[in-house]
Amino acid sequence: MPKITFVNWGVTVEVEPGTTILEAAQSAEDRGVTMGSVCGGVAACSSCHCWVVKGGESLDDPSEREEDILDKAFDVRPTSRLGCQAEVQDEDLEVVVTEESIQAWHDEHPEARLKTEAGDRG
Ligand code: FES
Repeated sequence: MPKITFVNWGVTVEVEPGTTILEAAQSAEDRGVTMGSVCGGVAACSSCHCWVVKGGESLDDPSEREEDILDKAFDVRPTSRLGCQAEVQDEDLEVVVTEESIQAWHDEHPEARLKTEAGDRG
């Protein structure tokens, strides 16, 4: 099975081909991986913006809709993809989750911040 490494955290997960990068990230949340998904994964928000820094050529080309949404993201690069739209094929990937995506995840999960703060105090 192909592996995805989330470079920000040095976390690698194995997934079935056809799994989206967002689904892979969500499966690794218990290991600290965070990727925003404000629209629920329907290519409408760009909060799952990531850079596929290795293996990206194995992915299907982005749809016009994905490209339109990516236009609204910050710091768009040739390696940019929407995590909810890019499906892993047979090749391993290395993915950097953008700061905007990590921020979006934290905005959606205020309880995680509270936990961290409580932990800091504890
Ligand atoms: S989760 Fe909204 S565009 Fe991917």
